[in-house]
Amino acid sequence: MIHMNLKGKNFLKLLDFSSEEIAGLLDLASDLKAKKKAGIPHKMCEGKNIALIFEKTSTRTRCSFEVAAADLGMHPVYLDPKSSQIGKKESIADTARVLGRMFDGIEYRGFGQDIVEDLAKYSGVPVWNGLTNEFHPTQILADFLTIREHFGSLNGIKLVYMGDARYNMGNSLMVGCAKMGMHFVACAPKKYFPDAALIDTCRKIASQTGSVLEFIEDPMEATKGADLIYTDVWVSMGEPDEIWKERISDLLPYQVNSDLMKNAGEGCKFMHCLPAYHDLNTETGKTIFEKFGIDALEVTDEVFESKNSIVFDEAENRMHTIKAVMAATLA
Ligand code: CP
Ligand code: NVA
Repeated sequence: MIHMNLKGKNFLKLLDFSSEEIAGLLDLASDLKAKKKAGIPHKMCEGKNIALIFEKTSTRTRCSFEVAAADLGMHPVYLDPKSSQIGKKESIADTARVLGRMFDGIEYRGFGQDIVEDLAKYSGVPVWNGLTNEFHPTQILADFLTIREHFGSLNGIKLVYMGDARYNMGNSLMVGCAKMGMHFVACAPKKYFPDAALIDTCRKIASQTGSVLEFIEDPMEATKGADLIYTDVWVSMGEPDEIWKERISDLLPYQVNSDLMKNAGEGCKFMHCLPAYHDLNTETGKTIFEKFGIDALEVTDEVFESKNSIVFDEAENRMHTIKAVMAATLA
């Protein structure tokens, strides 16, 4: 187990953490996962209270924070996208100063990264990023724990991210892979590559860790020999519905299907942060089918349901890794 001291720190983006600290959080998550499976109590934060602010909807992240809080002996208070004063009647700075007087830690899911950074600046208690437009760092910890469980380690693993690589998931995976010495490939049309300044920052990190970063437009070239193919929705929360037409036309060639998985090789695993559009069992899936005649978007149902798909391992690991982040910063 790597020793780290993150007590009192925020968890806003992976760029703020060293490779050793990220590995330490993964070790702690593995340990807490083993304890939970063995029924060993781990109420490391007994008596504390935390606020969960969600300006966007959630299944996994909210449930992970609530279950993890209960396991650690804490009381969570959920603030939903509509029923608090945040943004409309009260600024983030004022909200932060109020919540900081009542709570030991605050989770925020919402829009700009500047909002979560402000919350941290003004609240005086640890703040955890539960997803912003720019970053989704707790998701990456869950993904990396899952990769470690399936492949034994992270170093040198080739992860190909297909689709909209300039949003929270593409950005965060690139940062995480750079930090952990992995081989990251963003595969998309050029306009969906991550921001040039962030690529620059990651290249500097990669030169220290031995990570390789590539940006490739051709799906077959990009996925050759991949250990992991990762994708996410083509239209993210907060983006307008009108954008679907353009995204489908730009990104359909980047759909993860069986041909792509075969091209990567037999051992290649499929990953997705979820929720995923892989069939017609969602409202959006049905609407898109009626309008555009396609029955799957970023991933086909065949790949999603295949034995190489490890998406539900990732989903479970959201809880164990979020628990580790709270325990490390509060206990
Ligand atoms: N992956 C993820 O963040 O899922 P939710 O939107 O359900 O929280
Ligand atoms: N890019 C997606 C991730 C969801 C977990 C979104 O922001 O909606």
